[in-house]
Amino acid sequence: MTGIGIIGTSSISERFAEAVAVVEGVEVTRVASRDAERARAFADTIGAPHTAVGLADLLAADDVDAVYLASPNALHAEQIREAVDAGIPVFVEKPAVLSAGEWDAAVSHARERGVVLLEAMRSGYDPGLETVRGLLPRLGTLRRVSFRYEKRSARYDHVLAGEQTNIFDPALGGSALRDLGVYPLHALVRLFGAPRSIDGVRVGIASGTDGLGSALAAYDGFVADIAWSKITDTSLPSELQGEDASLSIDAIDAPRRLTLTPRDGEVEVVEVEAPSNPMVGEVERFRDAVAGADIAEDQHLTGLTLTLVDELLRSDTA
Ligand SMILES: NC(=O)c1ccc[n+]([C@@H]2O[C@H](COP(=O)([O-])OP(=O)(O)OC[C@H]3O[C@@H](n4cnc5c(N)ncnc54)[C@H](OP(=O)(O)O)[C@@H]3O)[C@@H](O)[C@H]2O)c1
Repeated sequence: MTGIGIIGTSSISERFAEAVAVVEGVEVTRVASRDAERARAFADTIGAPHTAVGLADLLAADDVDAVYLASPNALHAEQIREAVDAGIPVFVEKPAVLSAGEWDAAVSHARERGVVLLEAMRSGYDPGLETVRGLLPRLGTLRRVSFRYEKRSARYDHVLAGEQTNIFDPALGGSALRDLGVYPLHALVRLFGAPRSIDGVRVGIASGTDGLGSALAAYDGFVADIAWSKITDTSLPSELQGEDASLSIDAIDAPRRLTLTPRDGEVEVVEVEAPSNPMVGEVERFRDAVAGADIAEDQHLTGLTLTLVDELLRSDTA
């Protein structure tokens, strides 16, 4: 049994603990917060036996065999370094770090020390994405990929009120691109690899970061358009267009309803059975990585996604 220590006491850590509870071979043994009382209260909420104050305290505990890092993005790189130095496997929330260069350095360090380092990109391990992959041959020659994740955040109200909030705070690595844009970008590189080029436009907001944006990527024979937003909602699905059929995807981070519309023939709806918790697949992958599974390709895909984020962070701001 692998005992996992958690950094971060927000709702995503709660969802993670729920996923761990239904995956065999792992358990949450300890929760760390910057504040002892908050750690205790959160441990009680998720039913974890032990607490710690800060990462060093967590890493030193005998019952912690691995850590899950769910802290603000700008803290990830240093926390990864500390855990790897302690020889503790790391499962780090998306985006794993702030740039492809930081990721390459973190992966090199982890490999030198023989320590597992995996990004918690739940969409990459979702059964829906593999169902999409299985339907690709039905589309004929692929010509357009339109992937989007656009959802207004309640925390945008803080920005509108003139307050800073972590997820929109550039000092903490907050940004709509880093928070939601990574989902369609990750699906893109997981299904189709690296594009030949990518360019985009981001819309800036008062907190000093992007609130939404769009990108165009060139592949051999097809174009990909990517949209992300934390300040507006959309009624549009993601979509793939081939010369023989189109495929509409309800949600690119967790595809559950896929609608195949052939040029000639009947519309077909494919329902994907939802896992009990959208993080189950990634938790299983981390458990298997700790048990020795080869995660070089997973690490490569994180690097490719962050390379695209790097490019888009250099793009124009409206
Ligand atoms: N996979 C998903 O679906 C999903 C969903 C949401 C978020 N995420 C990812 O999870 C990570 C955390 O996001 P979040 O929105 O939960 O972040 P958050 O609420 O701003 O912070 C998460 C935790 O980090 C600690 N923290 C907050 N501010 C800090 C600071 N300035 N310095 C040090 N520690 C601080 C807090 O724990 P203590 O106060 O107890 O120390 C807090 O509970 C991000 O990387 C995000 O992208 C993933």
